[in-house]
Amino acid sequence: MSFHKLRLLVFGSLINCYLCAHVVYVDRFTFDVDEQDLFLSQSAVVEQDGNRSYLSGHMMISRLVNDLTLTSSMDIARPQRPELRLYNVQLNFCSILNNGYKNKFIRLLYNNYAGFLNTKPKCPLRPNFNYSLHRAYIDEAVLPDLLPDCTYRLRMSFKQKSKLLAHMQIDGHLLTKR
Ligand SMILES: *[C@@H]1O[C@H](CO)[C@@H](O)[C@H](O)[C@H]1NC(C)=O
Ligand SMILES: *[C@@H]1O[C@H](CO)[C@@H](O)[C@H](O)[C@H]1NC(C)=O
Repeated sequence: MSFHKLRLLVFGSLINCYLCAHVVYVDRFTFDVDEQDLFLSQSAVVEQDGNRSYLSGHMMISRLVNDLTLTSSMDIARPQRPELRLYNVQLNFCSILNNGYKNKFIRLLYNNYAGFLNTKPKCPLRPNFNYSLHRAYIDEAVLPDLLPDCTYRLRMSFKQKSKLLAHMQIDGHLLTKR
Protein backbone atom coordinates (compact mmCIF):
# COMPACT_ATOMS: atom_id res chain seq x y z
CA MET A 1 0.00 0.00 0.00
CA SER A 2 1.30 3.45 -0.87
CA PHE A 3 1.60 6.28 1.59
CA HIS A 4 -1.04 8.07 -0.37
CA LYS A 5 -3.63 5.38 0.26
CA LEU A 6 -2.56 5.04 3.85
CA ARG A 7 -3.04 8.77 4.24
CA LEU A 8 -6.51 8.63 2.73
CA LEU A 9 -7.47 5.81 5.02
CA VAL A 10 -6.31 7.82 7.98
CA PHE A 11 -7.73 11.13 6.92
CA GLY A 12 -11.14 9.53 6.98
CA SER A 13 -10.56 8.69 10.59
CA LEU A 14 -9.17 12.03 11.67
CA ILE A 15 -11.98 14.10 10.22
CA ASN A 16 -14.68 12.89 12.55
CA CYS A 17 -12.94 11.26 15.40
CA TYR A 18 -15.47 12.38 17.91
CA LEU A 19 -17.79 9.94 16.21
CA CYS A 20 -15.40 7.05 16.64
CA ALA A 21 -17.23 4.39 18.49
CA HIS A 22 -15.13 1.30 18.26
CA VAL A 23 -13.87 -0.85 21.06
CA VAL A 24 -10.70 -2.65 20.12
CA TYR A 25 -9.98 -5.91 21.85
CA VAL A 26 -6.73 -7.80 21.65
CA ASP A 27 -7.12 -11.54 22.03
CA ARG A 28 -3.56 -12.60 21.41
CA PHE A 29 -0.19 -10.83 21.36
CA THR A 30 3.00 -12.67 20.46
CA PHE A 31 6.58 -11.66 19.93
CA ASP A 32 8.75 -14.36 18.38
CA VAL A 33 12.49 -14.28 18.07
CA ASP A 34 14.05 -15.36 14.78
CA GLU A 35 17.65 -14.57 15.57
CA GLN A 36 18.20 -16.33 18.90
CA ASP A 37 21.62 -14.86 19.64
CA LEU A 38 20.39 -11.30 19.44
CA PHE A 39 17.77 -11.50 22.19
CA LEU A 40 18.85 -11.85 25.80
CA SER A 41 15.33 -11.64 27.10
CA GLN A 42 11.86 -10.70 25.83
CA SER A 43 8.19 -10.97 26.72
CA ALA A 44 4.75 -10.10 25.38
CA VAL A 45 1.65 -10.06 27.58
CA VAL A 46 -1.95 -9.04 26.99
CA GLU A 47 -4.30 -8.18 29.88
CA GLN A 48 -8.03 -7.58 29.71
CA ASP A 49 -9.21 -4.89 32.06
CA GLY A 50 -12.69 -3.47 31.80
CA ASN A 51 -13.40 -2.84 28.15
CA ARG A 52 -9.82 -2.47 27.11
CA SER A 53 -6.95 -4.74 26.27
CA TYR A 54 -3.52 -3.71 27.46
CA LEU A 55 -0.22 -4.81 25.96
CA SER A 56 2.99 -5.05 27.92
CA GLY A 57 6.35 -6.50 27.10
CA HIS A 58 10.05 -5.97 27.09
CA MET A 59 13.18 -6.85 25.17
CA MET A 60 16.89 -6.81 25.77
CA ILE A 61 19.38 -7.31 22.95
CA SER A 62 23.00 -8.33 22.93
CA ARG A 63 24.52 -5.95 20.38
CA LEU A 64 23.95 -2.58 18.70
CA VAL A 65 21.30 -2.83 15.98
CA ASN A 66 20.89 -0.40 13.12
CA ASP A 67 19.31 -0.39 9.63
CA LEU A 68 16.05 -1.95 10.69
CA THR A 69 13.24 -2.55 8.23
CA LEU A 70 9.69 -2.98 9.44
CA THR A 71 7.21 -4.91 7.33
CA SER A 72 3.65 -4.65 8.53
CA SER A 73 0.30 -5.83 7.29
CA MET A 74 -3.22 -5.79 8.60
CA ASP A 75 -6.04 -8.08 7.56
CA ILE A 76 -9.63 -8.07 8.70
CA ALA A 77 -12.24 -10.81 8.49
CA ARG A 78 -15.99 -10.70 8.79
CA PRO A 79 -18.35 -13.64 8.93
CA GLN A 80 -19.18 -15.05 5.48
CA ARG A 81 -16.84 -12.65 3.74
CA PRO A 82 -13.41 -13.05 2.21
CA GLU A 83 -10.51 -11.74 4.24
CA LEU A 84 -9.60 -8.16 3.42
CA ARG A 85 -6.07 -6.79 3.50
CA LEU A 86 -6.11 -3.19 4.71
CA TYR A 87 -2.47 -2.55 4.06
CA ASN A 88 0.94 -4.09 3.61
CA VAL A 89 3.87 -1.73 3.99
CA GLN A 90 7.60 -1.86 4.30
CA LEU A 91 9.20 1.01 6.18
CA ASN A 92 12.61 2.09 7.32
CA PHE A 93 12.06 1.51 11.02
CA CYS A 94 15.09 3.48 12.10
CA SER A 95 13.75 6.50 10.23
CA ILE A 96 10.53 6.24 12.18
CA LEU A 97 12.41 6.02 15.47
CA ASN A 98 14.84 8.77 14.59
CA ASN A 99 12.14 11.13 13.35
CA GLY A 100 12.81 10.75 9.65
CA TYR A 101 9.21 10.09 8.61
CA LYS A 102 7.06 13.13 8.16
CA ASN A 103 4.00 11.03 7.40
CA LYS A 104 1.20 12.07 9.76
CA PHE A 105 -0.21 8.60 10.29
CA ILE A 106 3.14 7.08 11.12
CA ARG A 107 3.91 9.92 13.54
CA LEU A 108 0.50 9.53 15.13
CA LEU A 109 1.02 5.82 15.70
CA TYR A 110 4.55 6.35 16.91
CA ASN A 111 3.54 9.05 19.36
CA ASN A 112 0.70 6.92 20.61
CA TYR A 113 3.03 4.07 21.52
CA ALA A 114 6.07 6.07 22.53
CA GLY A 115 4.20 7.19 25.63
CA PHE A 116 3.99 3.61 26.87
CA LEU A 117 7.69 2.94 26.49
CA ASN A 118 10.26 3.53 29.21
CA THR A 119 12.44 5.44 26.76
CA LYS A 120 12.20 6.96 23.31
CA PRO A 121 14.10 4.32 21.36
CA LYS A 122 16.59 5.55 18.77
CA CYS A 123 18.74 3.69 16.28
CA PRO A 124 21.11 2.12 16.83
CA LEU A 125 19.22 0.18 19.49
CA ARG A 126 21.46 -0.38 22.47
CA PRO A 127 22.61 -3.67 23.94
CA ASN A 128 21.80 -4.60 27.53
CA PHE A 129 19.10 -1.98 27.83
CA ASN A 130 15.67 -3.16 28.93
CA TYR A 131 13.25 -1.62 26.40
CA SER A 132 9.83 -2.07 27.93
CA LEU A 133 6.26 -1.33 26.99
CA HIS A 134 3.81 -0.82 29.85
CA ARG A 135 0.06 -1.28 29.39
CA ALA A 136 -0.19 0.11 25.88
CA TYR A 137 -3.60 0.15 24.28
CA ILE A 138 -4.88 0.85 20.82
CA ASP A 139 -6.38 4.29 20.67
CA GLU A 140 -9.78 3.86 19.05
CA ALA A 141 -9.47 7.39 17.73
CA VAL A 142 -6.86 6.38 15.15
CA LEU A 143 -9.21 3.91 13.47
CA PRO A 144 -11.29 4.80 10.46
CA ASP A 145 -14.98 5.11 11.38
CA LEU A 146 -16.00 2.93 8.51
CA LEU A 147 -14.40 -0.21 9.85
CA PRO A 148 -17.02 -2.89 10.35
CA ASP A 149 -17.24 -5.25 13.32
CA CYS A 150 -14.56 -7.76 12.46
CA THR A 151 -11.62 -9.77 13.65
CA TYR A 152 -8.23 -8.42 12.72
CA ARG A 153 -4.66 -9.61 12.46
CA LEU A 154 -1.77 -7.18 12.63
CA ARG A 155 1.65 -8.50 11.71
CA MET A 156 5.00 -6.82 12.06
CA SER A 157 8.38 -8.24 11.22
CA PHE A 158 11.74 -6.69 11.88
CA LYS A 159 14.63 -7.23 9.52
CA GLN A 160 18.21 -6.08 9.32
CA LYS A 161 19.32 -6.08 5.71
CA SER A 162 17.31 -9.09 4.59
CA LYS A 163 17.76 -11.09 7.78
CA LEU A 164 14.65 -11.63 9.89
CA LEU A 165 15.35 -10.76 13.54
CA ALA A 166 11.92 -11.06 15.13
CA HIS A 167 8.24 -10.83 14.34
CA MET A 168 5.14 -10.02 16.26
CA GLN A 169 1.46 -10.57 15.78
CA ILE A 170 -1.63 -9.09 17.35
CA ASP A 171 -4.97 -10.84 16.89
CA GLY A 172 -8.14 -9.27 18.13
CA HIS A 173 -11.60 -8.09 17.34
CA LEU A 174 -13.38 -4.83 16.89
CA LEU A 175 -16.87 -4.07 18.16
CA THR A 176 -18.97 -1.02 17.48
CA LYS A 177 -20.45 0.51 20.61
CA ARG A 178 -24.18 0.93 20.31
C1 LIG B 1 -17.95 -1.82 29.31
O1 LIG B 1 -18.87 -1.50 28.28
C2 LIG B 1 -20.21 -1.74 28.64
C3 LIG B 1 -21.07 -1.50 27.40
O2 LIG B 1 -20.71 -0.33 26.73
C4 LIG B 1 -20.58 -0.83 29.82
O3 LIG B 1 -21.93 -1.07 30.20
C5 LIG B 1 -19.65 -1.11 30.98
O4 LIG B 1 -19.91 -0.22 32.02
C6 LIG B 1 -18.20 -0.98 30.53
N1 LIG B 1 -17.32 -1.42 31.61
C7 LIG B 1 -16.25 -0.75 31.98
C8 LIG B 1 -15.47 -1.34 33.11
O5 LIG B 1 -15.91 0.29 31.45
C1 LIG C 1 12.66 -5.68 31.93
O1 LIG C 1 11.57 -4.87 32.34
C2 LIG C 1 10.35 -5.58 32.47
C3 LIG C 1 9.24 -4.57 32.72
O2 LIG C 1 9.62 -3.64 33.70
C4 LIG C 1 10.49 -6.62 33.56
O3 LIG C 1 9.28 -7.33 33.70
C5 LIG C 1 11.60 -7.59 33.17
O4 LIG C 1 11.81 -8.53 34.18
C6 LIG C 1 12.89 -6.83 32.89
N1 LIG C 1 13.83 -7.79 32.34
C7 LIG C 1 15.13 -7.78 32.63
C8 LIG C 1 15.95 -8.85 32.00
O5 LIG C 1 15.64 -6.94 33.36
